[in-house]
Amino acid sequence: MVIQIRALEPGDAGLLWDFTYLAVHVPPGKPPYPRDILEIPALRQYAEAWGRDGDLGVVACDGERVIGAAWLRLLVGEPKGFGYVDDETPELAMSLVKEYRGQGIGSALMARVLDLAAGRFPGVSLSVDDDNPAKRLYMRAGFVPVGLVGRSVTMVKRFGVAHEHQ
Ligand SMILES: CC(C)(COP(=O)(O)OP(=O)(O)OC[C@H]1O[C@@H](n2cnc3c(N)ncnc32)[C@H](O)[C@@H]1OP(=O)(O)O)[C@@H](O)C(=O)NCCC(=O)NCCS
Repeated sequence: MVIQIRALEPGDAGLLWDFTYLAVHVPPGKPPYPRDILEIPALRQYAEAWGRDGDLGVVACDGERVIGAAWLRLLVGEPKGFGYVDDETPELAMSLVKEYRGQGIGSALMARVLDLAAGRFPGVSLSVDDDNPAKRLYMRAGFVPVGLVGRSVTMVKRFGVAHEHQ
């Protein structure tokens, strides 16, 4: 299996609905949420009208099939994104089709999207359920917890300060 990573293109915009749905954490043993969970405005905004200024992302492809995505968006105004920290810091969302998880693809997507973001934004934020194993990946990528909303942890990676304490 050869997985390739490329920039998210306008033609991929419709896929962001699928990847937003796949990004919603389902705790082990629980049934998946119905697809209409995507009607919740706070979730819709991760996929809706993709292509605004500042929108940025990468996708992973197995041949022609897009099997994962990591994307960033400034979510200002209302409703705030789950991982909102300020108007200059975009939020990251990411997910993979189930059978491709746990093989290093997410880490590779993360590295690529952070590379792209580093020249453009002061940092990147996200929100992750406290019991989502993805939190470990985020910690390894340099995200730091900055707050708790319910059982969701807000995490931020600031560019340019990663080596400050080394
Ligand atoms: C999160 C996700 C994009 C990571 O991509 P990946 O290719 O599986 O990750 P990698 O193989 O590069 O890295 C492994 C890490 O991914 C995370 N991970 C692996 N399988 C996972 C799963 N089924 N669900 C959530 N996170 C997972 C863990 O942090 C793991 O670290 P560990 O080895 O210390 O446990 C992917 O697992 C996924 O789509 N998960 C479900 C959706 C989700 O939780 N998205 C994040 C919402 S905040």
